[in-house]
Amino acid sequence: MTHDPTEFEQRERIKSFIHGSADEACRLIADEIRGLIRTNDAAGRKTVLGLATGSTPVRLYQQLIRMHREEGLSFRNVITFNLDEYQGLSREHPESYWRFMHDQLFRHIDLPAEAINLPDGTLARGEIFAACAAYEAKIKALGGIDLQVLGIGRTGHIGFNEPGSGRESRTRLVTLDSLTRRDAARDFRGELNVPRYAITMGVGTIRDARRVRLLAWGAAKAGVVAQAVEAAPSDALPAGLLQGHDDVVFHLDAAAASELTRARLPWLVGPVTWTPAIARRAVVWLSLHLQKPILKLVDEEYGENGMADLLTEQGPAYEVNIRIFNQVQHTITGWPGGKPTADDSHRPERATPFPKRVLVLSPEPSDDTLAMGGTLRRLVKQGHAVTVAYLTSGNLAVPDEDAEMAADLMLELSQDDRGIGAGKADFARSVREQILSRGAFAADSDEVRRLKGLLRRGEARAALRVLGLPAERLRFLDLPFYEKGKYRQFRIGPADVTAVSALLDEVQPHQIFVTGQAADPSSLSAVCFGLLRQALASPRAESWLRDCRIWLFAGTDRPWEPAEVDMAVPLSPHELSEKISAMHHHKSQRGQAAALAHGTNELWQQAERQNRRLAELYDHLGLANYEAIEAFQRWNA
Ligand code: GLP
Repeated sequence: MTHDPTEFEQRERIKSFIHGSADEACRLIADEIRGLIRTNDAAGRKTVLGLATGSTPVRLYQQLIRMHREEGLSFRNVITFNLDEYQGLSREHPESYWRFMHDQLFRHIDLPAEAINLPDGTLARGEIFAACAAYEAKIKALGGIDLQVLGIGRTGHIGFNEPGSGRESRTRLVTLDSLTRRDAARDFRGELNVPRYAITMGVGTIRDARRVRLLAWGAAKAGVVAQAVEAAPSDALPAGLLQGHDDVVFHLDAAAASELTRARLPWLVGPVTWTPAIARRAVVWLSLHLQKPILKLVDEEYGENGMADLLTEQGPAYEVNIRIFNQVQHTITGWPGGKPTADDSHRPERATPFPKRVLVLSPEPSDDTLAMGGTLRRLVKQGHAVTVAYLTSGNLAVPDEDAEMAADLMLELSQDDRGIGAGKADFARSVREQILSRGAFAADSDEVRRLKGLLRRGEARAALRVLGLPAERLRFLDLPFYEKGKYRQFRIGPADVTAVSALLDEVQPHQIFVTGQAADPSSLSAVCFGLLRQALASPRAESWLRDCRIWLFAGTDRPWEPAEVDMAVPLSPHELSEKISAMHHHKSQRGQAAALAHGTNELWQQAERQNRRLAELYDHLGLANYEAIEAFQRWNA
């Protein structure tokens, strides 16, 4: 795959392609793999593929399966080596990579069983070292890996080569990073169940592959991708150790590429067309970069930072400063549903209709409060008709300990000598027994999932009560794709779309708050966003959609910078503390923070920090100094 770097890619040390979508990227990589197999077949050679697990490559595997079925692509002459495997899981364990690969690819193609190689997670400690050496030897004996497929973890790991893995590392037993274990916690129903060790090919093993293709989707990966591509290579970020490889390509979607300089700060690397959006981004960046309020920026500073032509076109600095300052100022509003009797020509939301019908779509109970607890409270106080709809029950994210506690409580109630709660004893006993007897690994039964879902309902009700929203304004959709599915492998069906459409028809909202537009397509929030899009495409939505604005909230894994914000809702110290107490009600979600940065261990600490941080940034820009800010982006359907 050849490609001449443009000036915009001058900071990139790894060739990176930005695709329109993950599917588009996967079609291209599948084409490449098909080409490789056909060329080798014609020459009578085997093709050796290195494969990866995780949600990222699933779409690629679906393309390969399609090519096998529809085009007769054969894998008879292919040999595969997988990157890694958890240590201590049997092959049949639902989360073993052996099982994953069989479910996602191997069962659906004609790859011979003896051509499949994965590290063996069932070996005793004493046998692992020799088995790793044998794995390496086998790869070598077969002539090395022709093409290695890779995902990237949020620590920047490849395979299970966590930070600290050296460039020369080989196949070995490794200890998993706490962020990696946390990322896997939902697959294993709680971090406690996630294995502590894994066997992985080393960075050196991966670098030996003749071609390396790393795939990444969604905003949560944007930071590590940019570091791997642009920062000097270091053991602290194993994916960056791919720099200098003869034939490595990163295939990204726009969200995963969004932190690359060419996407984030293009004026630093080449000429740009100064659209209002880019001008705003550049000036906000300049102000934060120089730690100077927008109104104090001077012409020389524009010139020294790749923004001279902005001044030529639209300058001097004084003019541009005022314009951008006003734009950013106009994103701030204490009236997220519009201010009824005020001039709204410079406000993010229209004054009328008032009150508005507001629909908040929360993928799981808790996403709403974390992202927009303060805004919700204001919407309610300001008299809007707010409905919060929880699209899924969220029961997969409830640790066993919480369900056990609830079952104990029920049991105790049922034994109450005044007869309170009698009749529920069987249910409670059965849930407790199932949790105890099914071992750490079997899937939850419907009963256990039901109880876990109910727990999250209770938490959501308690949280929104703090924010002033009564229980009857809450809707629990328990969409079937989630009830039947598992994380990273959700499949939506017609019943899911129908349920979302019915809700929209019923509410006919003037405002929708939703998330997931820039998320990894297999993530829960992206699946939920996709459902909304499908529902909006229905002709029935036409009548009210014209009069509806859609506001996006960001996930905690990649909060927005000021220049990305269209509506900034400030929170007073009192509002922030109410939001914090609301968030505390999501007890089953403790310890689920998406990143461990700055000692924020809990989701609510992370949300609080992000809201405070955004307020500080607005302050640095020279705007009002608020306690905290929640942020939204306008989305046009
Ligand atoms: C695990 C795997 C990696 C994978 C990573 C990201 O750590 N060992 O190979 O790249 O998860 O997973 P996902 O693609 O689901 O984001």
